[in-house]
Amino acid sequence: MRVPSVLSLAGVVAASSLSAPTAPASHVSGCSALRAPLGNALFSRGSSVYKYEAANFWSNTELMTPGCVFRPQSSEQLAEGIHALANANAEFAVRGGGHMGIRGSNNINDGVLIVMSNLTTLELNEDHSIVSIGPSHRWGDVYAYLQKFDLSAAGGRLGPVGVPGLLLAGGVNFYGNQVGFGCDTVVNYEVVLADGSIVQANKTSNQDLFWALKGGSSNFGIVTRFDLETVKSRKVWAGSHTVSAQYIDQFLAAAATYASNIYDPKTHVVPALVPGETTLASVILFYDSDNTSYPEIFKPFTDIPAVSSTLDFKTVSDFATETGAMVVDGINDVFVAGTVKGTTYKELLQGITIINQTFFNELPKLYKQIPTANISTIQLDWQPIGADWMKASESRGGNALGLDSSQIYLCYAEVVEWIGSAYDDIVANWLEETTYKINNATQKAGLYDAFNYMGDAAGFQSIFPGYGEENHQKLVNVAQKYDPNAIFQTLMPGGFKVY
Ligand SMILES: Cc1cc2nc3c(=O)[nH]c(=O)nc-3n(C[C@H](O)[C@H](O)[C@H](O)COP(=O)(O)OP(=O)(O)OC[C@H]3O[C@@H](n4cnc5c(N)ncnc54)[C@H](O)[C@@H]3O)c2cc1C
Ligand SMILES: *[C@@H]1O[C@H](CO)[C@@H](O)[C@H](O)[C@H]1NC(C)=O
Ligand SMILES: *[C@@H]1O[C@H](CO)[C@@H](O)[C@H](O)[C@H]1NC(C)=O
Ligand SMILES: *[C@@H]1O[C@H](CO)[C@@H](O)[C@H](O)[C@H]1NC(C)=O
Ligand SMILES: *[C@@H]1O[C@H](CO)[C@@H](O)[C@H](O)[C@H]1NC(C)=O
Ligand SMILES: *[C@@H]1O[C@H](CO)[C@@H](O)[C@H](O)[C@H]1NC(C)=O
Ligand SMILES: *[C@@H]1O[C@H](CO)[C@@H](O)[C@H](O)[C@H]1NC(C)=O
Repeated sequence: MRVPSVLSLAGVVAASSLSAPTAPASHVSGCSALRAPLGNALFSRGSSVYKYEAANFWSNTELMTPGCVFRPQSSEQLAEGIHALANANAEFAVRGGGHMGIRGSNNINDGVLIVMSNLTTLELNEDHSIVSIGPSHRWGDVYAYLQKFDLSAAGGRLGPVGVPGLLLAGGVNFYGNQVGFGCDTVVNYEVVLADGSIVQANKTSNQDLFWALKGGSSNFGIVTRFDLETVKSRKVWAGSHTVSAQYIDQFLAAAATYASNIYDPKTHVVPALVPGETTLASVILFYDSDNTSYPEIFKPFTDIPAVSSTLDFKTVSDFATETGAMVVDGINDVFVAGTVKGTTYKELLQGITIINQTFFNELPKLYKQIPTANISTIQLDWQPIGADWMKASESRGGNALGLDSSQIYLCYAEVVEWIGSAYDDIVANWLEETTYKINNATQKAGLYDAFNYMGDAAGFQSIFPGYGEENHQKLVNVAQKYDPNAIFQTLMPGGFKVY
């Protein structure tokens, strides 16, 4: 993955405050360094645990050949392992739910693959206001557990997605207009640091680390427990409302109407176009109410006749299972992120239109290179983030993402899923070119924003410059304070790096 280099930060970071992280001396000694102290949690090639864990990724593009798998049974064992790896100057990768579809972001050739599978905490505090979640979990597990108490949490909208990577990226969730990003609802992190110590990061302890983990990803340590606010949730009214191609313009106008005036914070929408032999437009609608359907604010969408609809009262747990079934794992998958911003309906519709038209104009080039039978799905979706959402973030203390509540953001994502690794480079190149074309066009129209949501980003994209210079610099400072030897930048090469 291409990572923003120190040079690209010129002007942000004074040259003297930063020495470039040095390259590791050894790439393969990690497995032997862990064998003596941690042999019971270490699995070599050929073992059944290795085979299971090395295959346990969302997209085939992520599959690699680690030297061994380290599956710690506790935070203490993980801490001991990190300490040993740092001493041995040995490379490693960390995998949570394995949904970051970028080769090398959560996996490694020859080095140690650390998996979170056995860090399985899942419990409510006494008054049920906080749920503690270990990084083994997927949101589906969390929702199923919480639903028994008529509760939920601000996590992934699809059940199979992993907890740790999502919360470390930000966390776009159904309750965003009420609570902000998923990370904004985290009140405490338990973190293993580079020196092998285990610390808590919260509002009163390691405050700077607490802030940095809200969007700063894997640059500071490995999180072994997230303590999150719960949300009361008996049932919600939610589903997908799908309309045919003839209504695309009306559908996109509905998306702009909603985004430009999100006056009902109980709502969440994900409008998407799904090109194919018959192109469809489909919107996920979510309303946090167990007694009210078809709220007024959704009318621009629900007035369009549906070819299919799953809208109904249901639990969040059932809904995340439903949305989870809309995607297929074990194939090849890429996401790309981008953002337009504006303040009016007109600006937001223009942004949507430019993205739509550029994307569809480029599609024939992709179809020319890949047989239709090998394209599983193509999607273009938009995530509106308005004032209520950002104010909810601010009221909880804020995060590192650097969004400005006087703007409305429409984060778009391009998704391509295909069958056959022979097409990996074709898809990657097509998406990179298409994304540059979209962003050059939105830039020309004065609607471009450099924010790329990490959860949707591709390997060629950079993330932290989009948080703004000040936040980026703060993240670098926190990384240097808690990890002075830059272990998480050098020995753990995968993922998005602040420097
Ligand atoms: C089908 C699908 C649906 C999605 N839906 C949503 C959604 O609704 N909302 C949203 O916000 N995003 C969504 N995403 C994006 C998602 O947030 C990211 O893919 C995220 O990385 C998933 O977390 P994970 O634990 O599965 O990731 P992983 O791939 O396991 O990890 C991602 C990164 O975090 C690092 N990491 C993992 N665990 C830890 C840890 N404990 N401590 C430190 N670093 C760690 C890894 O090394 C890697 O660099 C979706 C993605 C997919 C594929
Ligand atoms: C560790 O996780 C794996 C995979 O989920 C599971 O099969 C195994 O039983 C777990 N081991 C322990 C000791 O919890
Ligand atoms: C914050 O960390 C301190 C120090 O470990 C701990 O005593 C306190 O309970 C933590 N606060 C929260 C909200 O978890
Ligand atoms: C729906 O539920 C909410 C919250 O419990 C309540 O305030 C409201 O009066 C209810 N509305 C109807 C129409 O029953
Ligand atoms: C979006 O693109 C489709 C396919 O090219 C086109 O039919 C439609 O008119 C476009 N709508 C807008 C608002 O850009
Ligand atoms: C295309 O997909 C089919 C299955 O639909 C698969 O058998 C084939 O190997 C794929 N082609 C390539 C070149 O990978
Ligand atoms: C505009 O396009 C060029 C190359 O085609 C690319 O390098 C540049 O990053 C693009 N601009 C944006 C904002 O993406």
